Amino acid sequence: MSSNASWDISTTSDEVAAALSSHIKDKTVLVTGISPDGLGLDFCRAIASHSPKLIILAARNPSKIAAAEEYLRSLHPDVPLKPLQIDLCSLRSVREAAAHVNETVPRVDVLVNNAAMHAKELVRTEDGLETSFSTNHIGHFLLTNLLLKEGGAMRDGGRVVNVTSNSFRRGAILWDDPSFLKTPFGEGWAAYSQSKTANVLFSAALAQRFGDRKVYSYSLHPGLINTAMAKKMDMDNFSQRFNVTLHWKTFAQGTATHVVAAFDPSLEPHNGAFLTDCQIKPITGPEAEWATGKENAERLWKLSEELVGEKF
Ligand SMILES: NC(=O)c1ccc[n+]([C@@H]2O[C@H](COP(=O)([O-])OP(=O)(O)OC[C@H]3O[C@@H](n4cnc5c(N)ncnc54)[C@H](OP(=O)(O)O)[C@@H]3O)[C@@H](O)[C@H]2O)c1
Repeated sequence: MSSNASWDISTTSDEVAAALSSHIKDKTVLVTGISPDGLGLDFCRAIASHSPKLIILAARNPSKIAAAEEYLRSLHPDVPLKPLQIDLCSLRSVREAAAHVNETVPRVDVLVNNAAMHAKELVRTEDGLETSFSTNHIGHFLLTNLLLKEGGAMRDGGRVVNVTSNSFRRGAILWDDPSFLKTPFGEGWAAYSQSKTANVLFSAALAQRFGDRKVYSYSLHPGLINTAMAKKMDMDNFSQRFNVTLHWKTFAQGTATHVVAAFDPSLEPHNGAFLTDCQIKPITGPEAEWATGKENAERLWKLSEELVGEKF
């Protein structure tokens, strides 16, 4: 359970940040995907007033980083910010960004792997990977491990938050064809679900492998928020096709679980857990078969190492 049993679907990131203020103070936090109209930037907004040591704003587009800096400075002129350019669907770019962080930042306490995209068509990255899987999981897998390894800014441990989506409940990892060489791509839902299942298993794998090094990792579903991505995904059409009822959250409600996962010390005994609506939520139902279990987590780790060409 989180440190407050009454936190739920309507709790805001401002309420959670106020309660966890002493855990935000003096922390260096790296957040991927901080574009305007997105959850990453709203998470930064919520923690900026609680004296973090540094917020590293990571995005592929320098003009979006500049817009995020301007927005945060307009609210909190003194908050220390550092821009970081990273294209998560390029292994070269991820390696450069990680090297830059490791050389210039003494310690990252919290890494929030928030960025994601939903590719509606099959497009391969420069590394030959499917774009959703590459951006949403493989880029974050490489970034995280390069920070955690010897000489990295998280070598002494820290928190790794993987922002997933309830879409993990609709699709497993395609172990034999993660890059869609043979599998029909359709409108990209299988690829998006695969990447979001990977986010859940990646947290479980980090807890399994590095828990004894004080690495804590949690995955989370933020709920449904009308961000730039949600607008592109045409959620009304989605709700009809998959027969799900939509409950829209405000941005501040949508980033409350980010703040819990990133800072709540009460989660420590539950390393690797999945959270939603500010609480740990055990994964049950058919999806437990593909999104839980040591074997799946370990298999994803091996596959990811193979795809990035490095063992961790
Ligand atoms: N909104 C929802 O209802 C909802 C529901 C479930 C899960 N989520 C999850 O919440 C997280 C945040 O999504 P959001 O809704 O806030 O959407 P968003 O505003 O579109 O944020 C996604 C971020 O990822 C960045 N990104 C995409 N491709 C990238 C790449 N190759 N390299 C670096 N950054 C890249 C985007 O940058 P650009 O602006 O440059 O594209 C953007 O900043 C995602 O993990 C998403 O799966 C959201």
